[in-house]
Amino acid sequence: PDLASFVKDMPKLELHLHIEGTLEPEMKFRLAKRNNITLPEPDVEAIYKSYGAIHDLQSFLTIFYAGQDVLRQRQDFYDLCYAYLQRASRENVVYVEMSFDPQAHVARGVAFADVVNGLGRAQDDARRDFGIESALIMCFERERSEQSAMEMLHAALPFRNRIIGVGLDSNETNNPPIKFQDVFRKARAEGFRLTMHCDIDQLDTHEHIRQAIDVIKVDRIDHGGNVLERPDLVRRARAHDLTFTVCPVASGWLRKEHAQPVSVVRGMIDAGLKASINSDDPAYMHNNYTIGSTMQAVGDAHLTKADLIALSRNSIMGAWTSDPVRDRQI
Ligand code: HPA
Ligand code: ZN
Repeated sequence: PDLASFVKDMPKLELHLHIEGTLEPEMKFRLAKRNNITLPEPDVEAIYKSYGAIHDLQSFLTIFYAGQDVLRQRQDFYDLCYAYLQRASRENVVYVEMSFDPQAHVARGVAFADVVNGLGRAQDDARRDFGIESALIMCFERERSEQSAMEMLHAALPFRNRIIGVGLDSNETNNPPIKFQDVFRKARAEGFRLTMHCDIDQLDTHEHIRQAIDVIKVDRIDHGGNVLERPDLVRRARAHDLTFTVCPVASGWLRKEHAQPVSVVRGMIDAGLKASINSDDPAYMHNNYTIGSTMQAVGDAHLTKADLIALSRNSIMGAWTSDPVRDRQI
């Protein structure tokens, strides 16, 4: 088959997907109305247009957090998650490990349990309705305090059946992994799997990658493309059998260019690292791109079908789900 139908038919996994980053302008507009919130933009078209201001990580984060303000009730989290899982299942995504960032929600007065139960009910219904499996990763916002992260970890303990791992995201500048050493140590002891963002070309990125591997001892790294510039880190990543959840379209979008992130995927394959392809925040970039269009874009940029199969295998092997789900779905 041609590349498009090959990618479309392939069973796909998402390991790096922020559920708040799937909030499409249409739903944002609808939820704002439902919650009596006045958006700065008069219509859906204007919301799309406002995303043109995204040009780097911080400009994205500013718009991303402003957009989340419409999420106020358990039902909002349900609607967001159910709609995403429905779209994902339509393009043959069989399994998703989706991140959520509770701190911003809790800070605006949403109960932690409403966030997790809203997402969780949607996951259950989507499994029933579409057969798609999913699990949650709780991300800490790294510009907030370690104490705040620790509070979230405690809040998450009763939800260990839904939350399989913890991550670290948001603004990386002067917020190194070791800032959260105690939280991640406790999370590990409580049975959570560990990942964290080491986004491309951030300040001190090599040191952040080193800390993630050697100090935090993560199971995965989100992005992590700069590892390729340091042979010692490549060796460490291989020795630890790390999976890198790369987001080529999202990373390119944040930089207004596309070649470099694809070369990261190529470079990781050639360096013997386990790269996987993911979509990150699809509603905010490229007019709602998908995991399928991401894989196709990467494929079009001179990756072979064999490469795409190897990348998918890395997603399967890097996933944190229990074996029965793997065996049944893949
Ligand atoms: N990078 C960092 N923080 C984030 C992202 C991202 O892509 N999405 C949501 N929070
Ligand atoms: Zn991310």
